[in-house]
Amino acid sequence: MIEKIPRVVAAPPGKPVRAEAARGQQRAVRLALHPGTWDRREAAAMRADFDEAAPRWDAERGGYRRPVLADALARGGPFRPGLAVEIASGTGLLTAQVQARWPTVIAVDLSYRMLTRSAAAHRIQADAAHLPLASRSVDAVIIGDGPLFAAEVARIMTQDAVLVWSNALGREAPFFLPTELVAQVMTAATGRVWDAIESEAHWGSWAVLRSAS
Ligand SMILES: C[S@@+](CC[C@H](N)C(=O)[O-])C[C@H]1O[C@@H](n2cnc3c(N)ncnc32)[C@H](O)[C@@H]1O
Repeated sequence: MIEKIPRVVAAPPGKPVRAEAARGQQRAVRLALHPGTWDRREAAAMRADFDEAAPRWDAERGGYRRPVLADALARGGPFRPGLAVEIASGTGLLTAQVQARWPTVIAVDLSYRMLTRSAAAHRIQADAAHLPLASRSVDAVIIGDGPLFAAEVARIMTQDAVLVWSNALGREAPFFLPTELVAQVMTAATGRVWDAIESEAHWGSWAVLRSAS
């Protein structure tokens, strides 16, 4: 079941339009449904794109990302304490918010140049398709505008773990996935039904997903 709760954080005027959003979303859907299509060449291209964007990232794209995750963490709970992994953590724009909720956070990103700007205490340069983390070791996975490799997310999660999914530009974000699709692939990956609570905030959207009891 997906519960949609009303927006409380208004969207100001001036939402940016990303020319790459449509192509990005096609890729996001493909990777969620067909992760086997992701290969070394595509990973290298993604890494190179974000290595190149890293010096400008916070100045050009940093101003609107935090209110979305803040709303998810304020209204998407309850959240149990434990170990959190932030996948696609980038320059760490969201990491302090994650850390305020889960004091131990492992930040994972494909791009060295994004990751090297992050102040996260624990950083791993890795591909989300092949996480160098133990099975059933993580209590919360946070993905803010990154790809969803559901089998890997499911593998590292404990049974009661939550998945926090946010897109800073909502349906116009290059990594946007509908909550229904996120729940569908998590259900397929775990063999258990996943529920979600979702909302919109600022220019973005978020969902918090849990395995149904
Ligand atoms: C749109 S940025 C978001 C960064 C950060 N979460 C933020 O909100 O500022 C996407 C990030 O996902 C990372 N990324 C893309 N594909 C990845 C993968 N397969 N594994 C890990 N990180 C990946 C990129 O390197 C980039 O830092």
